Amino acid sequence: MNILLLGSGGREHALAWKIAQSKLVEQLYIAPGNAGTSQVGTNVNISAEDFDAIKDFTLSNGIDMVVVVPEAPFVKGISDFFKNDAQLHQIPVVGPSKFGAQMEGSKEFAKQFMMRHGIPTAAYQAFTKETLQDGIAFLRTLKAPYVLKADGLAAGKGVLILPTLQEAEKELTEMLNGMFGAASATVVIEEFLSGIECSVFALTDGKDYVILPEAKDYKRIGEGDTGLNTGGMGSISPVSFADKSFMQKVEERIVKPTIDGLHQENIDYKGFVFFGLIKVNDDPYVIEYNVRMGDPETESVMLRLENDLVALFQATFNGTLKSQVIRHDPRYAVSVMLVSGGYPGDYEKGKVISGLDEVTDSLVFHAGTTQKDGAVVTAGGRVMTVSSYGKTKDEALAQSFIGAQKINYEGKYFRRDIGFDLQ
Ligand code: AMP
Ligand code: GLY
Repeated sequence: MNILLLGSGGREHALAWKIAQSKLVEQLYIAPGNAGTSQVGTNVNISAEDFDAIKDFTLSNGIDMVVVVPEAPFVKGISDFFKNDAQLHQIPVVGPSKFGAQMEGSKEFAKQFMMRHGIPTAAYQAFTKETLQDGIAFLRTLKAPYVLKADGLAAGKGVLILPTLQEAEKELTEMLNGMFGAASATVVIEEFLSGIECSVFALTDGKDYVILPEAKDYKRIGEGDTGLNTGGMGSISPVSFADKSFMQKVEERIVKPTIDGLHQENIDYKGFVFFGLIKVNDDPYVIEYNVRMGDPETESVMLRLENDLVALFQATFNGTLKSQVIRHDPRYAVSVMLVSGGYPGDYEKGKVISGLDEVTDSLVFHAGTTQKDGAVVTAGGRVMTVSSYGKTKDEALAQSFIGAQKINYEGKYFRRDIGFDLQ
């Protein structure tokens, strides 16, 4: 079959790499892709949000399945666009309907869903400009630190954690006055949960599900989880504390009730669910849902998923997902993100990348790269991951470190301590 994958980051390269290994695939196209995805398929210069161009390409290239990776096309309704189009409605799109995408696109929707289905999460209330005073009163009932979340998508910047009541009141006022535009017209205020986080991924057809290998990502720029937040500086799988007993709780208390909830509410959802979890004492709580795979978790998860991913997608659309058994590679996978100098602040693009061919014992998944005059150059803050296997986490990390040292471009930076807080 011919597959069109939409997106352009490291996660997309890792998924494309995995899809390209499937015997079920004839042609793999990636739109728009990056310099790395062009090694495993054919890049197509179309934005993941240009639905008309995607339609033309799908029809003229005999596309049999569309795998949408970033959240924005779902929130804009790409699955509904296909379903409602006479020429496209039979082509499966991996990912939720526009309504289902609210699980990520609206924090308030997600919180209400969790409340309806008894899914453990932080206590919360939602406020708008009209109820600002009630919001301030609610803040005063909570203990520091204070968690404020813009309801809508805010490019990953919509969550503020504030140490004092004074700052929380000020930021709440600013958020409700348009700090993140329409995304913060509603703000969710949550109880702060203290614990260690991990990411769990399921693939669902809206009724049944399979759980993929879990992972942990490292968001801060500095070693020891210090400094500014980034899109993600690395990931590891498996996660030592997500042992059998913890994962059993995750499945019983969170994954199953979530999928049952989608089914009961007739929410059309065929795709990935990303459960952002936090372990408080020994119990899992949901921090957030995402309607897509995580980045850079995917770069490690795909190394450990032994199943044919395309066969899993087929099962999602033909009602056989329940009978699929997920097989995990027993080894550790560690992904180390190489970033541009200055990131997550200002950084320069267009730096020539050398040494890629010298990395032989790791996989390199490109994130922000492009081809220019025959060279691979940087095109974003997060440039690429070096992803490695190891019998232990230290062995996998050491292997990625060797690869990261072989790759060079002006301003290269990476964290050397991915997995530092795990056993
Ligand atoms: P989100 O954008 O929802 O992933 O939130 C960003 C980060 O804020 C999460 O990864 C957590 O580290 C943190 N966070 C969000 N909600 C809470 C909460 N209720 N308690 C503690 N930390 C939180
Ligand atoms: N790594 C977190 C995310 O993809 O949202």
